[in-house]
Amino acid sequence: MFNKTLKQKIMERTKIKIGLFGFGCVGKGLYDVLHQTPGLKAEIVKICVKDRAKKRSIPDEFFTFDRSEVLNHPDINIIVELIDDSEAAFEIVSTALKSGKGVVSANKKMIAEHFDELLALQKLHNAPLLYEAASCASIPIIRNLEEYYDNDLLQNLSGIVNGSTNYILTKIFRDNLNFADSLKMAQELGFAESNPALDVEGFDAKFKLTILLAHAFGIVARPENLINLGIQKIGDLESRFAREKAYKIKLIARAQKVGNKIAAFVMPQFVSRENNFYHINDEYNAVQTECFFADKQLFTGKGAGSHPTASAVLSDLSALTYDYRYEYKKLQQNAGYELTRDFKVEVFVRFSDEVNVPAVDFDEISERYSSQKQNYVIGKIHFETLINSDWYKNPAVSVVLAENPIV
Ligand code: HSE
Repeated sequence: MFNKTLKQKIMERTKIKIGLFGFGCVGKGLYDVLHQTPGLKAEIVKICVKDRAKKRSIPDEFFTFDRSEVLNHPDINIIVELIDDSEAAFEIVSTALKSGKGVVSANKKMIAEHFDELLALQKLHNAPLLYEAASCASIPIIRNLEEYYDNDLLQNLSGIVNGSTNYILTKIFRDNLNFADSLKMAQELGFAESNPALDVEGFDAKFKLTILLAHAFGIVARPENLINLGIQKIGDLESRFAREKAYKIKLIARAQKVGNKIAAFVMPQFVSRENNFYHINDEYNAVQTECFFADKQLFTGKGAGSHPTASAVLSDLSALTYDYRYEYKKLQQNAGYELTRDFKVEVFVRFSDEVNVPAVDFDEISERYSSQKQNYVIGKIHFETLINSDWYKNPAVSVVLAENPIV
Protein backbone atom coordinates (compact mmCIF):
# COMPACT_ATOMS: atom_id res chain seq x y z
CA MET A 1 0.00 0.00 0.00
CA PHE A 2 2.73 2.40 1.06
CA ASN A 3 4.79 1.54 -2.03
CA LYS A 4 1.89 2.14 -4.33
CA THR A 5 1.12 5.53 -2.87
CA LEU A 6 4.76 6.52 -3.03
CA LYS A 7 5.02 5.36 -6.63
CA GLN A 8 1.89 7.25 -7.55
CA LYS A 9 3.29 10.35 -5.97
CA ILE A 10 6.51 10.04 -7.91
CA MET A 11 4.58 9.48 -11.14
CA GLU A 12 2.57 12.59 -10.45
CA ARG A 13 5.61 14.77 -9.99
CA THR A 14 5.32 17.72 -12.24
CA LYS A 15 7.96 18.41 -14.80
CA ILE A 16 9.98 21.37 -13.62
CA LYS A 17 10.55 24.08 -16.18
CA ILE A 18 13.12 26.46 -14.82
CA GLY A 19 13.62 30.12 -15.51
CA LEU A 20 17.11 30.82 -14.23
CA PHE A 21 18.52 34.19 -13.20
CA GLY A 22 22.32 34.28 -13.24
CA PHE A 23 24.87 32.03 -14.84
CA GLY A 24 27.86 32.54 -12.57
CA CYS A 25 29.55 29.98 -10.36
CA VAL A 26 26.34 28.51 -8.90
CA GLY A 27 24.22 28.93 -12.06
CA LYS A 28 26.73 26.97 -14.12
CA GLY A 29 26.96 24.45 -11.31
CA LEU A 30 23.19 23.98 -11.44
CA TYR A 31 23.32 23.43 -15.19
CA ASP A 32 25.94 20.66 -14.70
CA VAL A 33 24.20 19.11 -11.73
CA LEU A 34 20.83 18.97 -13.54
CA HIS A 35 22.44 17.28 -16.51
CA GLN A 36 23.87 14.63 -14.24
CA THR A 37 20.64 14.01 -12.34
CA PRO A 38 18.38 12.24 -14.80
CA GLY A 39 16.01 11.19 -12.00
CA LEU A 40 14.70 14.73 -11.59
CA LYS A 41 12.46 15.76 -14.44
CA ALA A 42 13.72 19.29 -14.73
CA GLU A 43 14.85 21.44 -17.58
CA ILE A 44 16.23 24.96 -17.83
CA VAL A 45 14.07 26.84 -20.32
CA LYS A 46 15.65 30.29 -20.29
CA ILE A 47 18.48 32.04 -18.46
CA CYS A 48 18.51 35.76 -17.79
CA VAL A 49 21.99 37.30 -17.54
CA LYS A 50 23.35 40.83 -17.32
CA ASP A 51 26.67 40.93 -19.15
CA ARG A 52 26.14 41.00 -22.91
CA ALA A 53 29.85 40.71 -23.73
CA LYS A 54 30.61 37.55 -21.77
CA LYS A 55 31.31 34.32 -23.72
CA ARG A 56 29.31 31.45 -22.30
CA SER A 57 29.80 27.70 -22.36
CA ILE A 58 26.29 26.77 -23.53
CA PRO A 59 24.31 27.81 -26.65
CA ASP A 60 23.18 31.44 -27.01
CA GLU A 61 19.51 30.39 -27.41
CA PHE A 62 19.36 29.77 -23.66
CA PHE A 63 20.08 33.37 -22.80
CA THR A 64 18.11 36.56 -22.59
CA PHE A 65 18.91 39.98 -21.14
CA ASP A 66 15.26 40.74 -20.54
CA ARG A 67 13.92 39.78 -17.11
CA SER A 68 10.31 39.77 -18.24
CA GLU A 69 11.02 37.17 -20.90
CA VAL A 70 11.81 34.74 -18.08
CA LEU A 71 9.28 35.98 -15.53
CA ASN A 72 6.39 35.93 -18.04
CA HIS A 73 7.39 32.84 -20.01
CA PRO A 74 4.27 30.65 -20.26
CA ASP A 75 6.18 27.35 -19.90
CA ILE A 76 8.25 28.31 -16.88
CA ASN A 77 6.83 27.16 -13.53
CA ILE A 78 9.81 27.68 -11.23
CA ILE A 79 12.16 30.62 -10.95
CA VAL A 80 15.68 29.99 -9.70
CA GLU A 81 17.42 33.16 -8.62
CA LEU A 82 21.23 32.94 -8.46
CA ILE A 83 22.42 36.50 -9.05
CA ASP A 84 24.76 38.67 -7.06
CA ASP A 85 22.85 41.95 -6.76
CA SER A 86 20.56 41.49 -3.74
CA GLU A 87 18.16 44.33 -4.56
CA ALA A 88 17.64 43.14 -8.15
CA ALA A 89 17.23 39.64 -6.72
CA PHE A 90 14.48 40.86 -4.39
CA GLU A 91 12.60 42.41 -7.29
CA ILE A 92 12.84 39.21 -9.31
CA VAL A 93 11.84 36.96 -6.42
CA SER A 94 8.92 39.15 -5.36
CA THR A 95 7.62 39.41 -8.93
CA ALA A 96 7.80 35.63 -9.28
CA LEU A 97 6.03 35.01 -5.96
CA LYS A 98 3.32 37.54 -6.88
CA SER A 99 2.61 35.51 -9.99
CA GLY A 100 2.27 32.37 -7.85
CA LYS A 101 5.43 30.66 -9.11
CA GLY A 102 7.65 28.53 -6.93
CA VAL A 103 11.01 30.17 -6.28
CA VAL A 104 14.42 28.86 -5.26
CA SER A 105 17.08 31.34 -4.21
CA ALA A 106 20.62 31.15 -2.85
CA ASN A 107 20.82 34.85 -2.05
CA LYS A 108 21.46 35.07 1.69
CA LYS A 109 21.83 38.86 1.73
CA MET A 110 18.52 39.35 -0.05
CA ILE A 111 16.69 36.84 2.16
CA ALA A 112 18.14 38.17 5.40
CA GLU A 113 17.40 41.78 4.49
CA HIS A 114 13.84 41.12 3.28
CA PHE A 115 12.74 38.27 5.52
CA ASP A 116 9.48 39.85 6.66
CA GLU A 117 8.43 40.89 3.16
CA LEU A 118 9.25 37.47 1.75
CA LEU A 119 7.18 35.79 4.46
CA ALA A 120 4.24 38.04 3.65
CA LEU A 121 4.55 37.49 -0.11
CA GLN A 122 4.62 33.71 0.27
CA LYS A 123 1.52 33.82 2.41
CA LEU A 124 -0.42 36.30 0.33
CA HIS A 125 0.23 34.61 -3.00
CA ASN A 126 0.36 31.06 -1.67
CA ALA A 127 3.69 30.57 -3.42
CA PRO A 128 6.69 28.70 -1.98
CA LEU A 129 10.18 30.12 -1.62
CA LEU A 130 12.97 27.67 -0.74
CA TYR A 131 16.55 28.70 0.02
CA GLU A 132 18.56 25.83 1.47
CA ALA A 133 21.62 26.92 -0.56
CA ALA A 134 21.57 30.33 1.15
CA SER A 135 22.87 28.97 4.43
CA CYS A 136 25.89 26.66 4.49
CA ALA A 137 25.46 25.60 0.84
CA SER A 138 25.39 21.79 0.81
CA ILE A 139 24.37 21.28 4.46
CA PRO A 140 20.61 20.70 4.75
CA ILE A 141 20.34 22.78 7.89
CA ILE A 142 17.22 24.83 7.19
CA ARG A 143 15.03 21.84 6.46
CA ASN A 144 16.39 20.08 9.51
CA LEU A 145 15.67 23.06 11.73
CA GLU A 146 12.16 23.18 10.27
CA GLU A 147 11.35 19.50 10.46
CA TYR A 148 13.53 17.81 13.04
CA TYR A 149 14.07 20.40 15.75
CA ASP A 150 10.43 20.90 16.24
CA ASN A 151 10.07 19.77 19.81
CA ASP A 152 13.37 19.07 21.53
CA LEU A 153 14.41 22.24 23.20
CA LEU A 154 17.15 23.86 21.18
CA GLN A 155 19.56 25.65 23.50
CA ASN A 156 22.36 26.66 21.24
CA LEU A 157 23.18 26.76 17.57
CA SER A 158 26.68 27.64 16.50
CA GLY A 159 28.56 27.20 13.30
CA ILE A 160 31.21 27.87 10.76
CA VAL A 161 28.86 29.22 8.12
CA ASN A 162 31.22 30.97 5.70
CA GLY A 163 33.40 28.85 3.44
CA SER A 164 35.82 31.56 2.32
CA THR A 165 36.88 32.64 5.78
CA ASN A 166 37.25 29.04 6.91
CA TYR A 167 39.38 28.39 3.84
CA ILE A 168 41.54 31.44 4.63
CA LEU A 169 41.92 30.52 8.31
CA THR A 170 42.82 26.95 7.32
CA LYS A 171 45.48 28.22 4.94
CA ILE A 172 46.90 30.51 7.66
CA PHE A 173 46.84 28.04 10.56
CA ARG A 174 47.47 24.73 8.80
CA ASP A 175 49.47 25.68 5.74
CA ASN A 176 51.26 28.82 7.02
CA LEU A 177 50.13 30.96 4.08
CA ASN A 178 49.41 34.64 4.47
CA PHE A 179 46.02 36.33 4.47
CA ALA A 180 46.25 38.01 1.04
CA ASP A 181 47.34 34.86 -0.83
CA SER A 182 44.70 32.74 0.91
CA LEU A 183 41.96 35.21 0.04
CA LYS A 184 43.10 35.24 -3.58
CA MET A 185 42.87 31.46 -3.68
CA ALA A 186 39.37 31.52 -2.15
CA GLN A 187 38.37 33.98 -4.87
CA GLU A 188 39.88 31.89 -7.66
CA LEU A 189 38.06 28.81 -6.42
CA GLY A 190 34.74 30.67 -6.59
CA PHE A 191 34.12 30.58 -2.82
CA ALA A 192 34.27 34.31 -2.11
CA GLU A 193 31.55 36.87 -2.76
CA SER A 194 32.22 39.31 -5.60
CA ASN A 195 32.80 41.82 -2.80
CA PRO A 196 35.01 39.67 -0.54
CA ALA A 197 34.65 42.17 2.32
CA LEU A 198 31.25 40.56 2.88
CA ASP A 199 33.03 37.28 3.69
CA VAL A 200 36.07 38.60 5.48
CA GLU A 201 34.22 41.11 7.69
CA GLY A 202 31.60 38.58 8.77
CA PHE A 203 28.60 40.04 6.92
CA ASP A 204 27.91 36.94 4.85
CA ALA A 205 28.00 34.81 8.02
CA LYS A 206 25.63 37.29 9.66
CA PHE A 207 23.11 37.05 6.81
CA LYS A 208 23.17 33.27 7.19
CA LEU A 209 22.78 33.57 10.96
CA THR A 210 19.77 35.85 10.41
CA ILE A 211 18.13 33.12 8.32
CA LEU A 212 19.03 30.39 10.82
CA LEU A 213 17.63 32.46 13.71
CA ALA A 214 14.20 32.49 12.09
CA HIS A 215 14.15 28.74 11.49
CA ALA A 216 15.78 27.81 14.81
CA PHE A 217 14.14 30.21 17.25
CA GLY A 218 11.42 32.03 15.33
CA ILE A 219 13.23 35.37 15.54
CA VAL A 220 13.08 37.61 12.49
CA ALA A 221 16.02 39.90 13.12
CA ARG A 222 17.28 42.83 11.10
CA PRO A 223 20.88 41.97 10.09
CA GLU A 224 22.01 45.44 11.17
CA ASN A 225 20.93 44.60 14.72
CA LEU A 226 23.31 41.66 14.93
CA ILE A 227 26.98 42.19 15.69
CA ASN A 228 29.54 40.84 13.25
CA LEU A 229 33.28 40.91 13.68
CA GLY A 230 35.26 39.34 10.87
CA ILE A 231 38.73 37.88 10.51
CA GLN A 232 40.34 40.90 8.83
CA LYS A 233 42.01 42.17 11.97
CA ILE A 234 43.48 38.88 13.17
CA GLY A 235 47.19 39.52 13.60
CA ASP A 236 50.44 37.84 14.58
CA LEU A 237 50.09 38.10 18.32
CA GLU A 238 46.74 36.30 18.58
CA SER A 239 47.84 33.77 15.94
CA ARG A 240 50.95 33.05 18.01
CA PHE A 241 48.87 32.83 21.16
CA ALA A 242 46.59 30.31 19.43
CA ARG A 243 49.52 28.21 18.19
CA GLU A 244 51.17 28.14 21.63
CA LYS A 245 47.97 26.85 23.20
CA ALA A 246 47.35 24.40 20.31
CA TYR A 247 44.21 26.33 19.41
CA LYS A 248 42.93 27.45 16.05
CA ILE A 249 40.89 30.59 15.38
CA LYS A 250 37.54 30.06 13.63
CA LEU A 251 34.84 32.51 12.62
CA ILE A 252 31.75 31.35 14.49
CA ALA A 253 28.12 32.41 14.12
CA ARG A 254 26.21 31.79 17.32
CA ALA A 255 22.63 31.88 18.54
CA GLN A 256 22.55 30.80 22.16
CA LYS A 257 19.89 30.89 24.83
CA VAL A 258 20.72 33.13 27.75
CA GLY A 259 17.88 32.75 30.21
CA ASN A 260 14.83 32.95 27.97
CA LYS A 261 16.45 35.30 25.45
CA ILE A 262 18.87 34.67 22.61
CA ALA A 263 22.41 35.99 22.25
CA ALA A 264 23.30 36.10 18.54
CA PHE A 265 26.50 37.32 16.89
CA VAL A 266 29.33 36.44 14.51
CA MET A 267 32.86 36.66 15.91
CA PRO A 268 36.23 34.97 15.69
CA GLN A 269 36.82 32.44 18.43
CA PHE A 270 39.60 30.19 19.73
CA VAL A 271 38.87 26.48 19.43
CA SER A 272 40.84 23.62 20.96
CA ARG A 273 41.31 20.14 19.54
CA GLU A 274 38.38 18.90 21.63
CA ASN A 275 36.06 21.32 19.86
CA ASN A 276 34.22 19.95 16.81
CA PHE A 277 34.96 23.11 14.84
CA TYR A 278 38.72 22.59 15.20
CA HIS A 279 38.49 19.78 12.66
CA ILE A 280 36.43 21.65 10.05
CA ASN A 281 38.83 22.80 7.37
CA ASP A 282 39.02 24.47 3.96
CA GLU A 283 35.65 25.52 2.53
CA TYR A 284 33.76 23.12 4.77
CA ASN A 285 31.08 24.52 7.03
CA ALA A 286 29.60 22.99 10.16
CA VAL A 287 26.61 23.69 12.35
CA GLN A 288 26.37 22.34 15.86
CA THR A 289 23.06 22.16 17.64
CA GLU A 290 22.72 21.63 21.37
CA CYS A 291 19.38 20.44 22.59
CA PHE A 292 17.96 19.72 25.97
CA PHE A 293 17.52 15.99 25.36
CA ALA A 294 19.58 15.14 22.29
CA ASP A 295 22.67 17.05 23.47
CA LYS A 296 25.19 17.97 20.74
CA GLN A 297 24.74 17.18 17.05
CA LEU A 298 27.04 18.25 14.25
CA PHE A 299 26.18 18.84 10.61
CA THR A 300 29.03 19.32 8.22
CA GLY A 301 29.56 19.69 4.48
CA LYS A 302 30.97 21.98 1.83
CA GLY A 303 29.79 25.51 2.49
CA ALA A 304 30.81 27.16 -0.77
CA GLY A 305 31.62 26.32 -4.35
CA SER A 306 29.75 25.67 -7.55
CA HIS A 307 28.54 22.08 -7.30
CA PRO A 308 28.00 21.86 -3.50
CA THR A 309 25.83 25.00 -3.63
CA ALA A 310 24.02 23.78 -6.74
CA SER A 311 23.30 20.49 -4.96
CA ALA A 312 21.21 22.38 -2.40
CA VAL A 313 19.37 24.23 -5.18
CA LEU A 314 18.70 20.87 -6.80
CA SER A 315 17.32 19.48 -3.56
CA ASP A 316 14.98 22.50 -3.25
CA LEU A 317 13.78 21.96 -6.83
CA SER A 318 13.06 18.35 -6.03
CA ALA A 319 11.26 19.38 -2.82
CA LEU A 320 9.00 21.70 -4.81
CA THR A 321 7.82 18.73 -6.87
CA TYR A 322 6.23 17.24 -3.76
CA ASP A 323 4.83 20.58 -2.67
CA TYR A 324 7.26 21.09 0.14
CA ARG A 325 7.27 24.55 1.65
CA TYR A 326 8.65 26.00 4.84
CA GLU A 327 5.98 26.18 7.48
CA TYR A 328 8.08 28.54 9.62
CA LYS A 329 7.09 26.42 12.58
CA LYS A 330 9.07 28.35 15.17
CA LEU A 331 7.43 31.58 14.06
CA GLN A 332 4.00 29.93 14.25
CA GLN A 333 4.75 28.55 17.71
CA ASN A 334 5.14 32.12 18.86
CA ALA A 335 7.66 31.26 21.54
CA GLY A 336 8.32 34.98 21.89
CA TYR A 337 12.11 34.77 21.96
CA GLU A 338 13.89 38.09 21.83
CA LEU A 339 17.49 38.96 21.19
CA THR A 340 19.57 40.11 24.11
CA ARG A 341 22.89 41.87 24.64
CA ASP A 342 22.68 41.44 28.37
CA PHE A 343 25.37 38.82 28.94
CA LYS A 344 29.09 38.57 29.54
CA VAL A 345 31.72 37.20 27.19
CA GLU A 346 35.27 36.07 27.76
CA VAL A 347 37.57 37.80 25.28
CA PHE A 348 41.15 38.09 24.16
CA VAL A 349 41.81 41.69 23.12
CA ARG A 350 45.01 42.58 21.27
CA PHE A 351 45.82 46.27 20.92
CA SER A 352 48.69 48.55 20.01
CA ASP A 353 50.17 51.14 22.37
CA GLU A 354 48.21 53.96 20.72
CA VAL A 355 44.88 52.55 21.84
CA ASN A 356 43.46 52.82 25.31
CA VAL A 357 41.65 49.66 26.36
CA PRO A 358 40.63 50.64 29.90
CA ALA A 359 40.76 47.93 32.55
CA VAL A 360 37.59 49.35 34.10
CA ASP A 361 35.60 48.15 31.09
CA PHE A 362 36.25 44.57 32.19
CA ASP A 363 34.47 42.75 34.98
CA GLU A 364 37.48 40.55 35.49
CA ILE A 365 40.95 40.34 33.92
CA SER A 366 42.77 37.02 34.02
CA GLU A 367 45.86 37.77 31.94
CA ARG A 368 47.78 40.77 30.57
CA TYR A 369 50.75 40.94 28.25
CA SER A 370 52.85 43.76 26.80
CA SER A 371 55.80 43.60 24.45
CA GLN A 372 57.14 45.67 21.56
CA LYS A 373 54.16 48.00 21.34
CA GLN A 374 51.71 45.07 21.25
CA ASN A 375 49.53 44.20 24.17
CA TYR A 376 46.81 41.81 25.01
CA VAL A 377 44.37 41.37 27.79
CA ILE A 378 42.15 38.37 28.52
CA GLY A 379 39.08 38.97 30.58
CA LYS A 380 35.34 38.93 31.05
CA ILE A 381 33.35 41.86 29.78
CA HIS A 382 29.70 42.72 29.41
CA PHE A 383 28.74 42.35 25.73
CA GLU A 384 27.07 45.75 25.61
CA THR A 385 30.17 47.39 27.14
CA LEU A 386 32.34 45.71 24.53
CA ILE A 387 30.35 46.75 21.49
CA ASN A 388 29.71 50.27 22.75
CA SER A 389 33.34 50.89 23.68
CA ASP A 390 35.51 53.41 21.84
CA TRP A 391 38.23 50.86 21.26
CA TYR A 392 36.46 47.79 19.90
CA LYS A 393 36.15 49.08 16.34
CA ASN A 394 39.65 50.56 16.20
CA PRO A 395 41.71 49.00 13.35
CA ALA A 396 44.55 48.44 15.82
CA VAL A 397 42.35 46.28 18.09
CA SER A 398 41.55 42.65 17.48
CA VAL A 399 38.96 40.77 19.54
CA VAL A 400 38.86 36.97 19.68
CA LEU A 401 36.38 35.14 21.89
CA ALA A 402 37.34 32.38 24.29
CA GLU A 403 36.35 28.82 23.51
CA ASN A 404 33.21 28.96 25.66
CA PRO A 405 32.50 32.62 25.02
CA ILE A 406 29.33 33.29 26.98
CA VAL A 407 30.17 33.22 30.68
N1 HSE B 1 30.96 33.47 -0.06
C1 HSE B 1 30.20 32.44 0.54
C2 HSE B 1 31.10 31.64 1.46
C3 HSE B 1 29.60 31.57 -0.50
O1 HSE B 1 32.32 31.75 1.32
O2 HSE B 1 30.60 30.93 2.32
C4 HSE B 1 28.63 30.56 0.02
O3 HSE B 1 27.53 31.17 0.63
